[in-house]
Amino acid sequence: MSTSYSSTLNLLKGHPNSSHLPASLLQSSFNRLSPSSLLTSLNYGPESGPLSLKTSLAQFLSSSNPPSPNQIFITNGISHSLSLLTSTLKPKIVYTESPTYFLSRKIFEDEGAQVIDVPMKSTHGGIDIPLFSSLLSSSSSSSPSSPSPKFLYIIPTHNNPTSYTYSLSERKQLVDLCIANKIYLIADEVYHFLTFDNTKDLNERVRQVSEKEWVVGLGSFTKIWSPGIRCGWIECDSSILETIEKQGYIRSQGGINPFTSEIMSEALIGGEVSQNVTFLNSEYAKRVESIWNLIEGCSNLKANKPEGGYFIWLEVLNAPSDFIETLENDYKLIVMDGKECGGGDGVFMRICFACLEEEEVVEGVKRLVKAVEDLTG
Ligand SMILES: Cc1ncc(COP(=O)(O)O)c(C=O)c1O
Repeated sequence: MSTSYSSTLNLLKGHPNSSHLPASLLQSSFNRLSPSSLLTSLNYGPESGPLSLKTSLAQFLSSSNPPSPNQIFITNGISHSLSLLTSTLKPKIVYTESPTYFLSRKIFEDEGAQVIDVPMKSTHGGIDIPLFSSLLSSSSSSSPSSPSPKFLYIIPTHNNPTSYTYSLSERKQLVDLCIANKIYLIADEVYHFLTFDNTKDLNERVRQVSEKEWVVGLGSFTKIWSPGIRCGWIECDSSILETIEKQGYIRSQGGINPFTSEIMSEALIGGEVSQNVTFLNSEYAKRVESIWNLIEGCSNLKANKPEGGYFIWLEVLNAPSDFIETLENDYKLIVMDGKECGGGDGVFMRICFACLEEEEVVEGVKRLVKAVEDLTG
């Protein structure tokens, strides 16, 4: 045991480092806004968001095959999109991956839904598709009066917490299952563009796999630009979009964020968003390289190397059950306990490599490795 650490390091928080926030890029985008766009953006706007942003966003999502701007609804981020979809679809029951983003469950429960966990097929894999299929079959054969699940929520690319990315075949299987069973597939694609290797094609978004009404994709500028800008989007069929648009509070406010939307549109058109994405991906890739050999060399630590996103999901083998508390008390290292995300039996944790300074992330991982060496059998 060691007690010589003076300051506590926090690898729990999934926030960006403030030195990575695009203040000067944002300033340039803002300075280019024409007086007429600025004036328009200061008024109430269309319910689904300004056409300028929906058009530039569609191009950003795919320049070769952009979605129709009519199938995009601008929100103030994925948290908002999840709440909005849940209040629109009014589910009694929803399925989520387990483990999953720790706050998604709370959002669904706050809207009155009961959450059914669908386990991942291994501690570092995607959802157990045969198991999910059998859950769907048993739900459809249960009594017609019992409520059936309305949607499945997944994070298909660089998952939070596991960093797992579904293959195209897995995406297709899930899309087909959801369509066949008439339940929505809601894909939280917040880490889609945070794919480190820019020589690789991006994974297909779920709406590229199918544009059927059952398939809904969610995106956000939170991780590729800044959380404080509060701007995201729902990509969905116009039938859902029209139902959302009819909500009283949407009609009342006339578009979620016309002013922010206009700035983000300019930042997309002017290339600032792409420039920032390139910068973040090289920065995060460098961080993962700096810590990966420490993790890999530690025999009782099991992890997959992230190819994008914000997090590493770790299993500590042969660990005492109070490992995470001891890590905080004796090694002054705070991590997210896997149980918060619905992690399986055993000691699991999520660490974020984006938030602290790079040297601090390295120091944090060194403390973790030391704790594993000291405390595991
Ligand atoms: C998987 C996932 N979804 C949603 C969010 C929140 O996104 P937003 O800031 O766009 O609401 C996060 C933030 O950490 C996340 O990891």
